[in-house]
Amino acid sequence: MESIKCIGVLTSGGDAPGMNAAIRAVTRAAIFNGIRVMGIYRGYRGLITDEIVEFKTNSVSNIIQQGGTILKTARCVEFRTPEGRKVAYENMQKHGIDSLVVIGGDGSLTGASIFANEYNIPVVGLPGTIDNDLGGTDVTIGYDTALNTIMQSVDKIRDTATSHERLFFIEVMGRNCGYLALNSAIAAGAEAAIIPEISIEKDQLSELIQQGFRKSKSSSLVLVTESDVTGGALKLAERVKNEYPQYDVRVSILGHLQRGGSPTAQDRILASRMGVAAIEALLENQRNVMMGIRENEIDYVPFKRAIKQEREINDELLQVLKISSI
Ligand code: F6P
Repeated sequence: MESIKCIGVLTSGGDAPGMNAAIRAVTRAAIFNGIRVMGIYRGYRGLITDEIVEFKTNSVSNIIQQGGTILKTARCVEFRTPEGRKVAYENMQKHGIDSLVVIGGDGSLTGASIFANEYNIPVVGLPGTIDNDLGGTDVTIGYDTALNTIMQSVDKIRDTATSHERLFFIEVMGRNCGYLALNSAIAAGAEAAIIPEISIEKDQLSELIQQGFRKSKSSSLVLVTESDVTGGALKLAERVKNEYPQYDVRVSILGHLQRGGSPTAQDRILASRMGVAAIEALLENQRNVMMGIRENEIDYVPFKRAIKQEREINDELLQVLKISSI
């Protein structure tokens, strides 16, 4: 096995708070181990368009506290084609990059896995996504910050919901994963969460209303995951207007504000640990693995297990929300 001399680092897909802390840790851990580092801008697109710059320790100074990603990010269609990946590989060779660290979510790690197998390149991944939808890890980088952002936003919405005695549907991100909605509902003391994992099996809205979810309360907050499965907050509000006109209903879609902001301590520490672990993994000849965290220990999770896995929603969390919102 050839030794690692020069790694490329990139961020890909939706940005997530803590990506900068991850870039910093990867860069410094590589340099600490005598490995050169090349920063690849705009994710896989920059690998194809040759936007590659050598990083030194001070290239990543003063970024640990910043949201977003200094490397920029993109969702790159060309990289899904063999032709695009060939150009990417040629650019890696041109710069002497012999291995890659990819920081991103499901789609980015899928691309990493295909590329690694096609060209036999050592590639490791870091789970960078607010969605917390990857397998083999308790949490992903950015999830905790997004959760705190949502909680603070819901706290504010509560003031107006209470004053006007309204029912609010608050839509949050997560794609098809309900963790952001469920845990922010618990943290913000909301009445319910409508999440894709449960919506497949039953009509959560009817069930909530039939169970008299407002009970003694004159206002209610319901967190909803953006998803075709839940229908999203606007559709649910439309249904309430038609089927239960007694409720004064409003919608708030939090959108991209959930992805911004300075990362929490938890995300900075997680990203730093995973960044250092990624370099250690490459030095140990690990290939095609994502850094995960389980019971506060770093774990190497094969890409196959990390991506496209249905993450089961924890029943205990559902029960906590149900009990604490009576
Ligand atoms: O995967 C992260 C995420 O923020 C999802 O929660 C959301 O569905 C999607 O990205 C939005 O993507 P974009 O910023 O490209 O619209």
